[in-house]
Amino acid sequence: MEILIDSANIKEIIRLSDLYPIDGVTTNPTIISKEKEPFLPLVQDIQRHIGNEKMLHVQTLSTTANDIVNEALHLTNQLDGNVYVKIPVIPEGIKAMRMLHQEEVKLTATAVITPLQALMAAKAGAHYVAPYVNRVSNLSVDGTQVVEEIVNLFNTYKLSTKVLGASFKNVDQIKQVALKGSHAITASPDMIDAMQEHLLTEWSVDQFSSDWQMAFGEKTFIK
Ligand code: E4P
Repeated sequence: MEILIDSANIKEIIRLSDLYPIDGVTTNPTIISKEKEPFLPLVQDIQRHIGNEKMLHVQTLSTTANDIVNEALHLTNQLDGNVYVKIPVIPEGIKAMRMLHQEEVKLTATAVITPLQALMAAKAGAHYVAPYVNRVSNLSVDGTQVVEEIVNLFNTYKLSTKVLGASFKNVDQIKQVALKGSHAITASPDMIDAMQEHLLTEWSVDQFSSDWQMAFGEKTFIK
């Protein structure tokens, strides 16, 4: 399963990419606006730090197909490397995806709430669809089940589109979508840390260290 950082914070992107096998970065207008920096220089900076091989998913803002297409082409002109243009699955967004698919632009359908939206986006040419797990769960519908249904639909119809689970508020949601076959997830820096950190693991490591020091008086076995 691919793991992406859902953030535009350069420090966090550098820190997490140094620690973990990260496959890329996703942003959206809300995430970008939190950084209070000019949009294009910021995404170009993110790309410089992650390199041209890792994925960078950047979202459009317009709500009509022609404007979305113009924004998408502007983005792909300004950014090199492995760029995916994120487009919300509104009807005009689906139309824009169909147009951009003809231009061979790599696409991520975002703000996916239902399996049928995902199916439509896949048919329109999306390479990834991003179901919003926690936002769905806030509607008292299990967001992880929506991910499972999309995975099943793509398998049934032999669609190569990948599921990029998004919008997580706890690690159990991430575990559930991983078990249900999500091809990728994107999560905030604190969620990515929470995937790995565990008090009992920290406690065990402290125990190893203190046992060793008691026996040998050293913190390492390299002299
Ligand atoms: C990613 O593609 C989405 O924009 C993001 O995960 C939304 O998450 P939120 O519901 O926490 O804002």
